[in-house]
Amino acid sequence: MADIPTTPRGNWDSKLGFILAAAGSAVGLGNIWRFPTEAASNGGAAFLLIYLACCFLIGFPVMIAEMSIGRSSKKNPVGAFRSLSTNKFFPLVGIWGVLCGVMILSFYTVIAGWTFSHVFVEIFVYAEMFEVASFLADFENGYVNAVFAILFMACTIGIIRGGVSNGIERATKLMMPMLLIILVIMTVYVLFQPGAGEGIEIYLYPDFSMIDMELILAAMGQAFFSLSLGMGAIITYGSYLGKKENIAEAAGFVTLADVGIAFLAGLLILPTIYMAQAEGVQIFDAEGNFLAGPALIFQLLPELFAQMGGITGLLFGVLFFSLLSIAALTSTISLLEVPVSYVIDEHKIKRKSAALYVGLGILVISLIISFNTALIDTIDFTFSVIGLPLGGLLICIFLGYVWKTENAIEEIKHGYENVKDTFFAKAWTVFVKFVCPLIILIILIQTIYNNYFSS
Ligand code: ALA
Repeated sequence: MADIPTTPRGNWDSKLGFILAAAGSAVGLGNIWRFPTEAASNGGAAFLLIYLACCFLIGFPVMIAEMSIGRSSKKNPVGAFRSLSTNKFFPLVGIWGVLCGVMILSFYTVIAGWTFSHVFVEIFVYAEMFEVASFLADFENGYVNAVFAILFMACTIGIIRGGVSNGIERATKLMMPMLLIILVIMTVYVLFQPGAGEGIEIYLYPDFSMIDMELILAAMGQAFFSLSLGMGAIITYGSYLGKKENIAEAAGFVTLADVGIAFLAGLLILPTIYMAQAEGVQIFDAEGNFLAGPALIFQLLPELFAQMGGITGLLFGVLFFSLLSIAALTSTISLLEVPVSYVIDEHKIKRKSAALYVGLGILVISLIISFNTALIDTIDFTFSVIGLPLGGLLICIFLGYVWKTENAIEEIKHGYENVKDTFFAKAWTVFVKFVCPLIILIILIQTIYNNYFSS
């Protein structure tokens, strides 16, 4: 299955390597930290249902679009738009994708640092060194945030300096199966705990009256963030994919892996939330509004591990936060690869130097955020909530009306010979040209309206 690299930019060593790396990009804090919190605050099963619809009906077609743009051009997101059309506007969409990737990585590194620091928090709790544990667990301590952000960025830069198949592929081949195994063990454990039933019911039995525009917006935004769409990562990874691989199949695997891990994470965290509530932890206010914020899993899960007690609690605590760190690392790798591939392609700088200098540049922003964590919400809103759907919308317009779906289908034909006459090709064309851009546009307008114009 090994590909012979066709360009000095590098290729994936195998189809599995690409799928694991792209799934690693998609699976991250978005699935394990953001998804359960969003699901819990938006009615559980109703959110899960709309989220699944968004992933398969919007995310999957957009992912195929990004992969075909990447593979056809064999370029970074900016070069890709430039090489597939003479239109002067669309390279700006690539620049926007790179910028979104950079800004998301800057705060993602800080949150990833929190997950890494909690591995040590668990160890210090076990050793009954509670003062050290609470010092490390203090999200408002800029110095602690900075140290762990530096450590995390150093790991990311190190892997990216290794190159496409040496670094990214080798790292994710090991990380992804590990992640799945640890998550399954944790979930099975929690499901057999007394009190888990209420959480399972809320997560799996939808209350359709909960579905409103706000919930649909949240689910759509979550799908975009979680599938790594609109941030240049899938275009970049697609640019390293060999011609004989089936893009539709690869996108299907990645979407299924991402949704599967998010579903499992929900099955782990939702029951934990309701178990904690039964024990007196206040999760919802009197009106049923969700009180807990982004730090929810960092507050609740250490309690769960403490209840397990002794060596079991230590083992599960360390395993869980290691798992979350691994998931975050496979995403930060893909986020750093976006600007690095841009610098390598467009400015002819060597990979090792590009990874170091771009990584250090982004780390400067991460350090500023470490001391001003309130910036996370602003950056997340601008570049994730607005930026990613905007990028996705423009990618659909580019593919549907500038580069044209016929050319994309020709690209997909490499590795999927009979695609042209299939129902899949016809449905995908309709989705990319009409359904996805329309829905994303409505969501974007609603988001802007809800944030700036509604009282
Ligand atoms: N897609 C990545 C995540 O879900 C960014 O964390």
